[in-house]
Amino acid sequence: SIVSNGVVTKKSYSNIALIKYWGKRKNKIQIPMNSSISYSLEEVYTVTKLIYSLRERKKKRSIKIFFSGKEKTNFLPKIFEFFHRISFYCSYLRYFNFVIKTDNTFPHSSGIASSASSMSALALCIMEIEKKLDSSLKEAFFLKKASFLARLGSGSACRSIYPGLVVWGKHKSIKGSNNLYSIPYPYKIHPIFKKIWDTILVIDEEPKKILSSKGHQLMNHHPYAKERLKFANRNMDQLISILKIGDFPKFGELIEHESLNLHAMIMTSNPYFLWMRPNTLHVLHKVWDFRKQSKKNIYFTLDAGANVHLLYPIQEKKVIIRWIYSELIYYCKKIIESFCQ
Ligand code: PMV
Repeated sequence: SIVSNGVVTKKSYSNIALIKYWGKRKNKIQIPMNSSISYSLEEVYTVTKLIYSLRERKKKRSIKIFFSGKEKTNFLPKIFEFFHRISFYCSYLRYFNFVIKTDNTFPHSSGIASSASSMSALALCIMEIEKKLDSSLKEAFFLKKASFLARLGSGSACRSIYPGLVVWGKHKSIKGSNNLYSIPYPYKIHPIFKKIWDTILVIDEEPKKILSSKGHQLMNHHPYAKERLKFANRNMDQLISILKIGDFPKFGELIEHESLNLHAMIMTSNPYFLWMRPNTLHVLHKVWDFRKQSKKNIYFTLDAGANVHLLYPIQEKKVIIRWIYSELIYYCKKIIESFCQ
């Protein structure tokens, strides 16, 4: 078909992992040590516009990136590396120069990882170009390949392609799960898990002092890596039955345990890091105290940083939100809220 200039625009969500992806297989490109599962966050997303124009032969490829209207040259190495990695699967990219214009619904300096939503939005844009060049391309293939490409940009980004619960990484009891791209969670879930709210407490706005890519590497020589793997796999098995039965307290305890296990991994790696801030600890204890005294279903999970995600059923939102805004507001710089779609 005809190759010409054009523009594509795509939106993609951030996601919060319930079982965390931590560690990559040695000597493989972006293959996870364990399978992970996340919720996509409806209100936390990136919109990316990809402008492509025919490139003169023999001239070097040019890529420009604008973030919230400002040109960002510091993102270029990551983007060039990404285009290099995917060039084998998307050979048509060599015909073009690119301008990438991207915007987030959430503040850039919030410590909320934007790599998942931005790499997946970019991967979707690239697939949109592929679709223009190949009109017979099917929707299911479109999404699978978008997830495959997003994975090569940032591992967790491959889960952002689908709404709802999404699985990445081969797990023996999840049909169709695999290491190369994500799949929507394939089993029926209890209705309570279709209406979950996430209140994200931004405790530290500073960019992460240790990148997740570095953290994954540290798993390769980690003294507890084997145990971590067993733990994550066991958690996945337990989660599968919890999602079916609808036991929210069990769900909550599992995600808290899992996220503290992730933090334990980075605290015991060499070199070691501590992602939590004093306010993170204040919040966790407050949540435990409130839960004990109110019997409300509010549980936390943490990512690779100081921020806290509070997950709870929408039915209990009124009371819980009132408590959050009266008791936890002092410990955070910002609050971001989203439906777990
Ligand atoms: O996608 P990466 O390489 O930034 O790794 C993300 C790792 C965690 O956010 C800590 C866990 C996860 O599964 O999202």
